[in-house]
Amino acid sequence: MGHHTFDADRAATLEAPEQRYRVLSAEELRWALDCAADDTVVDLGSGTGFYTDDVAADTGEVYAVDLQPEMHDFYREKGVPSNVELVTAPVDEMPLDTGSADRAFSTMTYHEFATAAAIEEIRRVLRPGGRLVIADWAANGEGEQGPPLAERYALTDAVEMLCEHGFSVEFEAARPETYLLVATAD
Ligand SMILES: C[S@@+](CC[C@H](N)C(=O)[O-])C[C@H]1O[C@@H](n2cnc3c(N)ncnc32)[C@H](O)[C@@H]1O
Repeated sequence: MGHHTFDADRAATLEAPEQRYRVLSAEELRWALDCAADDTVVDLGSGTGFYTDDVAADTGEVYAVDLQPEMHDFYREKGVPSNVELVTAPVDEMPLDTGSADRAFSTMTYHEFATAAAIEEIRRVLRPGGRLVIADWAANGEGEQGPPLAERYALTDAVEMLCEHGFSVEFEAARPETYLLVATAD
């Protein structure tokens, strides 16, 4: 499957709380991450920081990783919380220390970076026992919102990929249009 990167010209469409929280609420994301107040967290493909802000309100330092500088520019104009650091890099080559993160998460972006190299890099950056949360559009959805069905993964594919690259899946939920999974770094 080819990985299609979100068009930065459409950044403003991500800032739509009514639509976005119907698909993934801040409440369920914060529940899945279960952050402590001093945790270090990595947002993988942070975009405009829509969900980064929700997570940053609850925790320690947050690295907002995105490979498109235009997305960070949008976030800067919106206003970046003081505990969020913008990192312009691809998920498969993050300039972060090994074992330095307690939590990592990705919202609606896994299908854009899902290679073995990226998963191994996330595993490297997380400490053993650290938690990874992925919410993404599912291949068995109807495709009325989000990327085309052909660009999406099934929950089972994502679980298999994580288990092959150093994670144990603790929780998985298949919903009508999306899936949510929680994994722990081995
Ligand atoms: C669909 S947007 C979602 C943004 C954000 N996670 C949200 O839920 O609002 C996907 C974002 O991931 C970024 N992205 C895609 N592939 C990436 C990669 N390999 N490494 C880092 N960022 C990536 C894109 O630049 C884009 O900003």
